[in-house]
Amino acid sequence: MSRILLLGGSGFIGRHVAQRLVRDQHTVIVPTRGRERAKRDLILLPTVELISADIHDEPTLARLVSGCSAVINLVGVLHSRSGRPFGPDFKRAHEDLPRHLVGACERVGVKRLVHLSALGASADAPSGYLRSKAAGEQALATSPSVAVTVLRPSVVFGPGDRFLSLFAHLLRAFPVLPLAMPQARFQPVYVEDVANAVVAALTDERATGQTYDLVGPRVYSLLELVEMVGNVSAHPRPIIGLSKTLSLIQAWMMEWMPGRMLSRDNVYSMTVDSVSDAPLPFGLGATALEAVVPGYLANANLHSRFDRLRFRAARHG
Ligand SMILES: NC(=O)c1ccc[n+]([C@@H]2O[C@H](COP(=O)([O-])OP(=O)(O)OC[C@H]3O[C@@H](n4cnc5c(N)ncnc54)[C@H](OP(=O)(O)O)[C@@H]3O)[C@@H](O)[C@H]2O)c1
Repeated sequence: MSRILLLGGSGFIGRHVAQRLVRDQHTVIVPTRGRERAKRDLILLPTVELISADIHDEPTLARLVSGCSAVINLVGVLHSRSGRPFGPDFKRAHEDLPRHLVGACERVGVKRLVHLSALGASADAPSGYLRSKAAGEQALATSPSVAVTVLRPSVVFGPGDRFLSLFAHLLRAFPVLPLAMPQARFQPVYVEDVANAVVAALTDERATGQTYDLVGPRVYSLLELVEMVGNVSAHPRPIIGLSKTLSLIQAWMMEWMPGRMLSRDNVYSMTVDSVSDAPLPFGLGATALEAVVPGYLANANLHSRFDRLRFRAARHG
């Protein structure tokens, strides 16, 4: 049993990684900016310690790293608060944090770091998200004393995802869906497969200094994925595919809306195919989307029907 620092452990992928680590009887330290919110998802995991902390403060980060045998970094932001492509939040979360983290590991003698980047990350990528992810990988690549493994998933699906579940929600709410970048290509990977890869990377000696793509068994266009979500959640709707220019206009308008579902930076990210020929590492098998998605999207539909019934009952009660 060892003590593992899990940055981003309160997020979608982080919750699944935390469960895997707890199952293997590790003590898992999860710093968060929103302890009450994170508690809802993690409170049932007996060896998870949730800590309110500002991980961008370097002395705080060093204290968290100290005493751990390994560190996992899952922190990521999909939108920069400014809404602008190449906004500063990307640099802070994806580049500065990994640099501070590996520096803290070097200082206190932590030898193992597993880091989640993104498929398509590159220094000349068209989006701030993908460029900052590449800069983060670069910041980790030169450590003289920390054994780093970088994992680069395509879009990740599973209960609690924000990608397919968001489309299920939109298809329920609207009779027609104008879809940005319908021809964007993805190779969705199951969140449990990602969690298994993260945990295997911690212990497999061959993973030291390696970068692995994480993808599922099939490539889909965004349009195919959204049509599938409509069928599975019993709300098949007409979908109007938007050109790149119209996608950028739609994204620009959404940047002004609460909840920010889409940004121009996301549209730029989607101009790069999120696909790979590489099999999952560590001998893991890739789970098919069709085997998992109906289970949680059909349930999401049921929950929303219960919510509507509860709402009507309250109105007439
Ligand atoms: N989900 C996908 O489809 C996908 C695909 C490719 C790559 N990835 C990468 O995988 C990682 C995990 O993704 P996810 O979907 O699990 O993300 P998520 O659900 O949005 O969770 C993000 C986590 O990062 C923390 N975080 C976010 N912004 C932060 C900030 N500015 N300062 C400190 N902590 C911050 C959050 O902690 P608190 O809010 O609790 O503080 C949360 O635990 C990310 O690096 C992401 O880029 C995800």
